[in-house]
Amino acid sequence: MIASSYLDNIGNTPLVKLQKINPYRNVDIYVKLEFFNPSGSVKDRIVRHIIEDAEANGLLEPGGTIVENTSGNTGAAVAMMAAIKGYKSILTMPDKVSLEKQNALKAFGAKIVVTPTSALPDSPDHYVNTAIRIAGETPNSFRVDQYDNKLNPEAHYLTTGPEIWEQIKGRITHFVAAGSTGGTISGTGKYLKQQNPDIKIIMPDPVGSIYYDYFKTGDIIIEGACTYHVEGVGEDHIAKAMDFSIVDDMYRFTDQDAFSMARRLANEEGIFGGGTGGANVWGALKLAATLKQPAVIVTIIPDSGVKYLSKFYNDQWMVENNFTL
Ligand SMILES: Cc1ncc(COP(=O)(O)O)c(C=O)c1O
Repeated sequence: MIASSYLDNIGNTPLVKLQKINPYRNVDIYVKLEFFNPSGSVKDRIVRHIIEDAEANGLLEPGGTIVENTSGNTGAAVAMMAAIKGYKSILTMPDKVSLEKQNALKAFGAKIVVTPTSALPDSPDHYVNTAIRIAGETPNSFRVDQYDNKLNPEAHYLTTGPEIWEQIKGRITHFVAAGSTGGTISGTGKYLKQQNPDIKIIMPDPVGSIYYDYFKTGDIIIEGACTYHVEGVGEDHIAKAMDFSIVDDMYRFTDQDAFSMARRLANEEGIFGGGTGGANVWGALKLAATLKQPAVIVTIIPDSGVKYLSKFYNDQWMVENNFTL
């Protein structure tokens, strides 16, 4: 295929059946490989949708600056799109974001602002507040606002959900996705439930995220939030893009669960994904263990393992951070 724009390669990512990791005969598990998107993650889908809407509505003008808070993947999508379309980009991120991801944004020509991971949501140093401040100070700027922008889940409702439904020919019984903004699980889950209300939506959430307690009890416990290593899921605040009403159950995972499963995926299935892909497959297997009837689980590999070569794909890093290999 010859694409007239690089952006035409966003979406229509492969759906692949796990062959070796899944021991459950009555359950098929499929993974959607979002690292096939041009900037290497699921976030290309939402950033294209939001930027094109901003252009159409005059919110982003030629020569403007796109500002966003990011754990790296949305930033890469923004920076890539800014490079293609001739905008400037300024991206804020917590300092736990891997150097690979930080450097990728610079390669696309973005300016990055790194903030302390320990900054709480009400601190001016928090990466979201930093992005809001920079957007306010920068003339002709547009903030993507992925956490609270309804166009984020809408992008998944319009693309990820229909793709899965089409690829699996409607046979899906369960969809599993960890979330940060919640755009992926909310938009995809909404579309799938509209096709078949019996489909169950399961969300793995890291220990240290506020989402699990909020879902189970309605309480928001932010103390010690987000000190886990896995990048890109879990939260220290409730995002407006996250629709809890479509979630049927949540599981809680540890960094070790996510990293061990990501490493097994590469080693046993040849699928080189990030830590959240590991968490999602961990969740799919935990779910599969509870299912007595035949079932078809679909989950997401949101980004590539290449982005974490200096972290959990590095044995020395694993040992130094007290993880077992
Ligand atoms: C690696 C990774 N996995 C999963 C997600 C979660 O996606 P969403 O924000 O749609 O919930 C993100 C979001 O930043 C991410 O970067």
